[in-house]
Amino acid sequence: YAITPTYSRPVQKAELTRLANTFRQVSRLHWILVEDAAARSELVTRFVAGAGLPCTHLHVPTPRRYKRPGLPRATEQRNAGLAWLRQRHQHLPPPQPGVLFFADDDNTYSLELFQEMRTTRKVSVWPVGLVGGRRYERPLVENGKVVGWYTGWRADRPFAIDMAGFAVSLQVILSHPKAVFKRRGSQPGMQESDFLKQITTVEELEPKANNCTKVLVWHTRTEKVNLANEPKYHLDTVNIEV
Ligand code: UGA
Ligand code: MN
Repeated sequence: YAITPTYSRPVQKAELTRLANTFRQVSRLHWILVEDAAARSELVTRFVAGAGLPCTHLHVPTPRRYKRPGLPRATEQRNAGLAWLRQRHQHLPPPQPGVLFFADDDNTYSLELFQEMRTTRKVSVWPVGLVGGRRYERPLVENGKVVGWYTGWRADRPFAIDMAGFAVSLQVILSHPKAVFKRRGSQPGMQESDFLKQITTVEELEPKANNCTKVLVWHTRTEKVNLANEPKYHLDTVNIEV
């Protein structure tokens, strides 16, 4: 399962198209797309219908008071994805194999990443490229165990890792039914740590990507588009979805 929070903006369809082109090539991937919106949009609804892979389309709006720079993003959306997943599996008999990954819509994902995370027993970790003001951040590994973090930003984080840097087994999600992303008390950059400390410890983490020495996912961020020349009058004669 991949949970992807997404919100309406000029680049949204381009981002989702790029993700679908990757995810379609991953076998047995179920994509949980969660719109930050009061209702499902027509754009995403149409997109999901033609995405070519199993998709679940959810929505939940971020309360306006949380839509401010410096505050964590997509908390409610990831929690909606978690709730859906727990609901779907609660009445199924164990064992229920599965792995959950939080896939933001603007990152870049290699296919190899999905091969790596498939063998997650509890919580697995790996490097993330282009994040934290460095070329990459990564868990430091000694004798197969995570012993620290290579990072240039807030090294005091208990888990100095981006959302794109870990996966969790479905079993762990189901056996910790209260583990969610928190608004209250969550500082910038602490969402990952606040979540991970509810379900695991640093000692328990399973390093992937050759003992965390390969970058298989990039925290790319899309430039804000320039719409300075959008017409105010003499609009186009057709209404085109972009
Ligand atoms: C960084 C981390 O990589 C994110 O995982 C973390 O959620 C985020 O910081 C944060 O500040 O909370 P960054 O690239 O700065 O990511 O954030 P975005 O990519 O803009 O947003 C993360 C995800 O939330 C994206 O999938 C985006 O589509 C979604 N989002 C963003 C919403 O659903 N609503 C918003 O208002 C903004
Ligand atoms: Mn991002």
